[in-house]
Amino acid sequence: MSGVSQKGRVALVTGAGRGIGLAIAQKLSDDGAAVVIIDRDADLVGEVREKFGDRQVLATTADVSSAADMERVAAETLKTFGRIDVLCPNAAVFDSAPLDTMEEALWDRLMSVNLKGVFLSVQACLPAMKAQRYGRIVASSSITGNRTAIAGMAHYASTKAGINGFVRASALELAPFGISVNAVEPGHVMTEGAGPMYDADFRAAVEAFIPIGRFAAPADIAEAVAFLASERAGYITGQTLTVDGGLTLREYPAGYPKTPT
Ligand SMILES: NC(=O)c1ccc[n+]([C@@H]2O[C@H](COP(=O)([O-])OP(=O)(O)OC[C@H]3O[C@@H](n4cnc5c(N)ncnc54)[C@H](O)[C@@H]3O)[C@@H](O)[C@H]2O)c1
Repeated sequence: MSGVSQKGRVALVTGAGRGIGLAIAQKLSDDGAAVVIIDRDADLVGEVREKFGDRQVLATTADVSSAADMERVAAETLKTFGRIDVLCPNAAVFDSAPLDTMEEALWDRLMSVNLKGVFLSVQACLPAMKAQRYGRIVASSSITGNRTAIAGMAHYASTKAGINGFVRASALELAPFGISVNAVEPGHVMTEGAGPMYDADFRAAVEAFIPIGRFAAPADIAEAVAFLASERAGYITGQTLTVDGGLTLREYPAGYPKTPT
């Protein structure tokens, strides 16, 4: 989105080693922010660090489900850039499993990374945002669990519905400090994490089902995040923005009724 400036701002993005997180970090950097790349995968962190070249960037390996890791990242950010303006809690895992054989450990892992990770990232950044009386928090939620569902993803759907509840309650709590809390709900995005779920046939069927006729690119999601993360979105808080190419609008299978009214 043109005209969205993050000049002088500092933005943290979790799960930024690839996919949607990387696209968000690139977009915020393009908009002028100093960005902090956070990912648990050290190789990805190294690659992204190189990709950003001489831009203002801090790249660090951390696990969002660890309070100690997130506190360290917030401290490193303040030491390097002196402030924290934007936080995009985006890291998540999404291995599917049927309910009758789903291991408790898998359930706990998704809760821990996808939902607790959002809480811990926010908590680590709050002292700086509150002191500045300015903050923009934009989480990566999903249509899954909030508007739609996928069999085998009950754990994932629960974490994403949880994020929407977290967004509303924390928006209310943090509004007096000039901190907004929102989320995007992507539809189907072609990323390194999601891509392997689709063979050619499945991919074509999904494309036919999405009114816009294609999967989202990570950059499509980053555009929406960048707006909510900007000064211009200052009066929007506690909201979730669906970015799904019209997927959740459908009442009938694609092509029906035969004669559109
Ligand atoms: N791809 C989609 O279709 C889609 C749709 C709706 C929502 N989303 C959401 O968007 C976000 C990004 O998805 P994606 O498709 O880009 O995923 P991805 O798997 O391609 O990338 C996720 C990144 O997060 C990192 N990560 C995972 N666990 C972590 C942890 N504990 N600590 C730090 N980093 C960790 C991974 O190493 C990876 O680099 C997720 O929250 C996902 O639920 C994705």
